[in-house]
Amino acid sequence: KIAYVNGSYVPHSEAKVSVFDRGFLFADGIYEVAAVLEGKLIDNASHLARLKRSVGEIQLALPETLERIEEIQKELVKRNDLVNGMVYLEVTRGADKGRDFAFPKAEANVKPTLVMFTSEKDIINAPSAKTGINVITVPDIRWERRDIKSVALLAQVLAKQAAAAAGAGEAWMIEDGKVTEGGSSSSFIVTQDDVVVTRQNGSEILPGCTRNAVVKLAEERQLRIEERAFTVEEALAAKEAFITSASVFVQGVVAIDGKTVGNGKVGPITDRLREIYVEFAK
Ligand code: PDD
Repeated sequence: KIAYVNGSYVPHSEAKVSVFDRGFLFADGIYEVAAVLEGKLIDNASHLARLKRSVGEIQLALPETLERIEEIQKELVKRNDLVNGMVYLEVTRGADKGRDFAFPKAEANVKPTLVMFTSEKDIINAPSAKTGINVITVPDIRWERRDIKSVALLAQVLAKQAAAAAGAGEAWMIEDGKVTEGGSSSSFIVTQDDVVVTRQNGSEILPGCTRNAVVKLAEERQLRIEERAFTVEEALAAKEAFITSASVFVQGVVAIDGKTVGNGKVGPITDRLREIYVEFAK
């Protein structure tokens, strides 16, 4: 398997960055994950737009244009013969000597680090798409700028480890009694009167590319959508619940903290939105 590291395509065994990389020392970096279906990047314009916004918010200049980044993503898909899966991309503020919290000085001429690699995943035929997943809830202990897709993911690592230990597929993070989002996905419910509810975008959550596409696609099909926060109690009283992300598309949630949602099966609106999203992706 081949990775991209600062201008070179190298085998994974040779894909390395410095111990002084600020991504490693400070989590001073941004990432993106875009799905690949039949060799094609899905909704990549949206991922690149978010990348541009994220790096702007931390005053990090991309080392390549977005056009060039997309070329590299595509080249990597080709070199890995990737049919279905994901392209991971990370840009950091680069490797500086020592460990200064403040940005490297201009005269140090530190170049940002840009790495990418691919992974295989059959998102369409994943078994959990049919069965749905259980989620657990955990307190949202993250910082206040969750709209930035930063590589500082310790809170999500702990949340998703707690989920894994409990045999659950995702952790829903709770703040002020409301669900913010999943450890690596956006959260949705479908109310008893068939209203699709997902939290409004803002600094409390990552603006999910899949979330945004699903909201738009649902609106175009005259489904009722409300963008607002919801509680776990509301989710437990809902007809359906689901999550969205580049790595799962739309995936049903059938239980929260061991309590069944709806009839305990993936619901019809979830199934329909998954079909609509897959159609859009193809
Ligand atoms: N995670 N919320 C969080 C906290 C996320 O990390 C992600 C994505 C999402 C969904 O965003 P999108 O639809 O653009 O993938 C929401 C990626 C997949 C990851 O960390 O692997």
